Amino acid sequence: MLLLDYKKQFCTGLKNEYPLEEINSFFNILIAHYLSVTRLELALNPKKKLSSEEIKLFDKILLQLQRHEPIQYIIGETEFFGLKFQVNKNVLIPRPETEELVSWILSDLSDNNTSAIKILDIGTGSGCIAISLAKNLPNAKISALDISKEALKVASNNAEANGVEVKLENQDILHLNKSLDSFDIIVSNPPYVRDLEKKEMNRNVLENEPEGALYVRDNEPLIFYEAITDLAQTSLNKGGSLYFEINQFLAKETEKLLKEFGFKTTLKKDIFGNFRMIKGIKQ
Ligand SMILES: C[S@@+](CC[C@H](N)C(=O)[O-])C[C@H]1O[C@@H](n2cnc3c(N)ncnc32)[C@H](O)[C@@H]1O
Repeated sequence: MLLLDYKKQFCTGLKNEYPLEEINSFFNILIAHYLSVTRLELALNPKKKLSSEEIKLFDKILLQLQRHEPIQYIIGETEFFGLKFQVNKNVLIPRPETEELVSWILSDLSDNNTSAIKILDIGTGSGCIAISLAKNLPNAKISALDISKEALKVASNNAEANGVEVKLENQDILHLNKSLDSFDIIVSNPPYVRDLEKKEMNRNVLENEPEGALYVRDNEPLIFYEAITDLAQTSLNKGGSLYFEINQFLAKETEKLLKEFGFKTTLKKDIFGNFRMIKGIKQ
């Protein structure tokens, strides 16, 4: 079968589930990933054929997409901060707003001597924050922890694939079983979606991404921010910085919490104009 003919079938199979632009994007991702064919190459070579094995594979993926499985889990990878990351259902798919958090940290550091700086990433998931920082700060000592052993396996594969060293540790930040080193920067994108916000979320997220990575109870929405800021009291060096990705609907509450712990705070908006990040400097 011609690949272009299969594309028509693929679009028809998904037209009730997604806008056409998104279906085209899925198709382009799949042909690039499995056939090493770009959209342009397909346009230049319209006679490109699919083998029966390839049709079988693409038919299976079509069914997964009809069930709203994220394309990143289907192909097993995604891009973050210009790097490739393995992802599976044990880790959150890294989001663009988290790239903005990494950019903020790097731009704050660009004027300073970053030689032996020590950084801790809490709730590392795929390792996207820790690994992008390690890639851009070759002299920094980077540690990361997560409650999920399965997530740490993914982070370890990603550190190796990207050629960086990150010290990974299995720890529950709400019940630490040892005291931690001291750091110059602590960064975290912890779970912050309240149960009450679930109804606003897309099916692909609700049905596929790990609950433990995303949700907090309505009556304690800042539980992770409180535990991490408390930890920063002892584990962050004086003048050190705490960076968080935050729930845009709780920006003021999160800022108040950091202030109560004595941190000098700056809230920052993402490219869509929402408060999605905060920095606290330890006085
Ligand atoms: C929102 S995800 C962030 C993942 C990754 N840092 C990112 O930005 O894509 C939160 C992460 O925190 C981890 N986590 C949840 N509860 C935790 C706990 N009590 N202690 C440590 N990590 C926890 C989850 O396993 C998940 O990997």
